[in-house]
Parts: sequence; C-alpha cells; structure tokens
Amino acid sequence: MKYDVKDVSLASKGVDRIEWAEASMPVLRRIRSQFEKKKPLEGLRIAACLHVTTETANLMRTLKDGGAQVFLCASNPLSTQDDVAAALVKKFGIPTFAIKGEDNRTYYRHINAVLDARPQFTMDDGADLVGTLHKSRKKQMADDVIGGTEETTTGVIRLKAMEAARVLGYPIVAVNDADTKHLFDNRYGTGQSSIDGIIRATNVLLAGSNFVVCGYGWCGRGTAMRAEGMGANVIVTEVDPLRALEAVMDGFRVMPIAQAAPIGDIFITATGDINVIRPEHFVRMKDMAIICNTGHFNVELDIPGLKNLCGKPRRVREFVEQFTIKRNGHRINLLADGRLVNLSAAEGHPACVMDMSFANQAKAAQFVLKNYKKLENKVYAVPEKIDTDIARIKLKTMGLKIDKLTAEQKEYLASWELGT
Ligand code: ADE
Repeated sequence: MKYDVKDVSLASKGVDRIEWAEASMPVLRRIRSQFEKKKPLEGLRIAACLHVTTETANLMRTLKDGGAQVFLCASNPLSTQDDVAAALVKKFGIPTFAIKGEDNRTYYRHINAVLDARPQFTMDDGADLVGTLHKSRKKQMADDVIGGTEETTTGVIRLKAMEAARVLGYPIVAVNDADTKHLFDNRYGTGQSSIDGIIRATNVLLAGSNFVVCGYGWCGRGTAMRAEGMGANVIVTEVDPLRALEAVMDGFRVMPIAQAAPIGDIFITATGDINVIRPEHFVRMKDMAIICNTGHFNVELDIPGLKNLCGKPRRVREFVEQFTIKRNGHRINLLADGRLVNLSAAEGHPACVMDMSFANQAKAAQFVLKNYKKLENKVYAVPEKIDTDIARIKLKTMGLKIDKLTAEQKEYLASWELGT
C-alpha cells in the first residue's frame, strides 16, 4: 500500500484520539453500522481531499466499511493531524497522503497521489482536488467519475462557477448547503474552534479585548457570538448591507475595516475573499495586534503586503509570526501563516458537530451512487430527506424529543396549502 505520512509510529496515539471523537459522532456511527451490513458503496473508488483530523478518520472508516476503496489526502497544508494520518495507514489500512506543514509542491503531489488511484468518486473540501482533476492533463479522468461531494462554502462557490462555465465534468452534491451542515458546523463549529485556535496560539485574554470579525456569514457570526460570550467587545466588518444590518441588530458594532484597524486587539477574517485586511490597515493597527484567518484559503490577509512593510518576521511562539512595521515599530502577530486558525493551531470543529457534516457526506455519497445516471454535470443540493433525517437522528441521540403535529394541526396547515 502506498502512503506518505510523517511518522507511522504515531499511530497508537491517533487511534486513541479517533476513538475519542467517535464517541461524539453517534449519527455517523449509526450510518457506519448500516453500511457495514449493506455495503452500499461496494467497490467504489473514492478520492477524498479533506482536513486529516480525528473526525475525518471516522468518515473514512464509514466509507470503507460501506465497501468503498478510500484514498485520502489533505485539503490544507497545515490542518493535518500527523497521528491521525499514521493511524489511518497502520490501523485502518487507508492510503493517506498528508503531512502537517507540507509545502505547496508536496500538497499537490499528495492530491495527485490520490488521483493516481483513478477515482470514481471525489469527496472534496475547498475544490482543490476537483480543480486538479479538471486540469487539461487529467481532464479525461472526469469521464470515469460518477460524481462527488463538496464540504465547504468556498468549494461550492468554485464548483458553481465551473458549472456556469460548463466545464464541470460530473455531478457534485454541495454538502455545505445542507441545513444540518452549515447551520451547525459553520456557525457553532467555526465559532468555537476559531476561538480555541486563537487562545491555544496566544493565550490572550478575550474578556475586555476589541475583537474584530471580518465577514458576517455563518462562520463570522459563529465567531462573533462566541467571542462576545468570552467577554470581548466585538466589531463586525461587512460589505453586504443585509448582513451588516443583521450584525447591528445582533448587538455588534459595525464599521469599515479602516475604522476598526486602530481599535482592534484581535482581527479574524471569515469572508472567502482576498485582501480583506491590507497594508493601509496594518500600518494603523496597535502595537501587538493579533491577526488571523478562518476562511478556507490564506488569501484574506494581505501577507505579502504586510511583509513589504516590515523587516524579517520572528517566530515568537508556535503558530505566531511577529512582524514589526518599520514605519512605527508596531508589532503585528500573524497566527498560523494566515491559514485556517481553527485547524492549524487547534483541532478543528468538535466531533459533535462534524457528526452531522460527515453524516451528510456519507449519505450524499450513497445518494450519488444510486442516482448518478439521472444526474447532470451540475452542483446539487443534499436531498431534503437526508437533511431532516440527520436532524431527527441527532436529536434522538441527544436524548431529546420534540412535539408532533396533531391531526387537527395537519389539517389546518393543509387547508392553507390548498387555499381552502
Ligand atoms: N473542518 C473544520 N473542522 C474539521 C474537522 N474537525 N475535521 C474535518 N474537517 C473540518
């Protein structure tokens, strides 16, 4: 079996951590035991490009137990948990290609390694795998692919652009857009894990700090909500008037980044766009300001622009690079090279929330395999039934019951639908 991980001797620590996560993933566990019995993915070759975490390991086990042949690479150079990668290889027999801190060349070598397995299905997080597969040299590979899934907002945006340009080579289900995914993973998952990453990297006190969140999508609002919960004074920056209004009415101060720059102590970007914080903002920041990103790509902070303002940066702590602005001597602390701070400096979203995201992934894969002959080369939503079933099972596993409509209530609602 081919693989490329940092150190296979880390496997037993990885196994312990994977089992720890598994305990908080009851929905995925249930799917795994159904998959074990029915083997709905029998023989399917899956190339997965996901953050290599304990939660992802449990998804890979589920797909394998469903009969699939799974090949895994990292969806980000800094998010790999090396002990998990080792455990996937040694204990679970899953060819894994991922090393924390790998350079860009190795990152793409690993993507190409999983593509060498000639996948029939792709499971992506950010669309780098799909993008590489559609490059001219490999384009004919898409003919063998029956479909795929995409985990994240940025990936869905990229895939929809490919669909619009008529270059998407096979159907892909946008797992991100399921309610049981983005309303929980993007909001509560990113909210908690981003704060976790900032604290692990810096040990800074959030209470009383001015905490600037750039972008008020689901990830931004989760982060703002949790920072507020820790006692920070939260400022939101936005470009969308509706979202800005929501942030105001959620109780946050809203202002342009140029105005927030001299006020903030901690800045986090969650927009999906490039150069959200730029040199003209860095020069106005306080001495010892902290900047980081929780969006998919490391493009939201203009790091080349920051470098131009400063001398050589100094690594002052693990995951903290300190830049000193020549003009005013202010130190700006960049976390995790501007990559996803929650997955680089912490462990990503907790298993409890990834349970629903990855239940969607497993069920979406099953859906595509069953229906691919009817699907076109488009981006599809997760079927509503899968989404509501996952919500129902999650509630059940939490020991919670909810009310059911009475016959009278059903009739009343139906009368409105019929216009009677
Ligand atoms: N994305 C965010 N958190 C994650 C996690 N824990 N595992 C996999 N992907 C993630």
